[in-house]
Amino acid sequence: MALYAMGDLHLSFQSDKPMDPFGRVWRHHERKIAKYVNQIVKSEDTLVLTGDHSWGRKLEESRDDLAFIEKLPGNKILLRGNHDMFWDAKKTNKLNEEYKGRLFFLQNNFAAYKDYALVGTKGFTFEGPFYLDRWGNITGWDEEREEHAKKLISRELKRLRESFRLAQEAGYRKFVMFLHYPPTSILEKTSPFTEIAEEYKVSAVVYSHCHGERRFGDSIRGNYHGINYMLVSGDYLNFRPAFVMN
Ligand SMILES: [Fe+2]
Ligand SMILES: [Fe+2]
Repeated sequence: MALYAMGDLHLSFQSDKPMDPFGRVWRHHERKIAKYVNQIVKSEDTLVLTGDHSWGRKLEESRDDLAFIEKLPGNKILLRGNHDMFWDAKKTNKLNEEYKGRLFFLQNNFAAYKDYALVGTKGFTFEGPFYLDRWGNITGWDEEREEHAKKLISRELKRLRESFRLAQEAGYRKFVMFLHYPPTSILEKTSPFTEIAEEYKVSAVVYSHCHGERRFGDSIRGNYHGINYMLVSGDYLNFRPAFVMN
């Protein structure tokens, strides 16, 4: 029995949004997902998919993508990504009722893996625009956007705290924390997300959203203050699910 994670499947079985223009790694990426997930994940394992599942703009346009995910082996847990328009955060309970026993949607709730609580939310991080000098050094950024980002971050922190609170109330003391967005922006070394991870002494922080070689290093990877930070974007992993723990 093992816990795996991967994010950003960016499926488009109904929405005809080819990912090929984003680079070779995305060529027939849905075939790679099916192949590698079936090779790596066993039916008794848990697979957390960290958001950006589907290009569908509403649930009816994402059904085939969700059906594809459903057919993958293991216990599938889904986190919201910024592109998951099909998933209205206020209607998570409805999704969970509808897909009960098939998919679990992680938002203002938690899932269990052995004696660990899997907690999480989409998260948010400030992504600019940044202003650069001719050597590529950051000399400033859009401060209005930064203000807006702060509001989104505080909303996401509330959702994350709720996830921790419910897990703790249910008796869990060990946690793995999932985000769609990276925990820190390129300007930060720490953030409210790294602070909450340390407060609850989580074993790992797992996130995705960063695409392409140039973005893979945007946030923390590896051990930081005793916590394992893992980037699991599909293209970073070449669509092989990452092993989180046994
Ligand atoms: Fe993505
Ligand atoms: Fe994303």
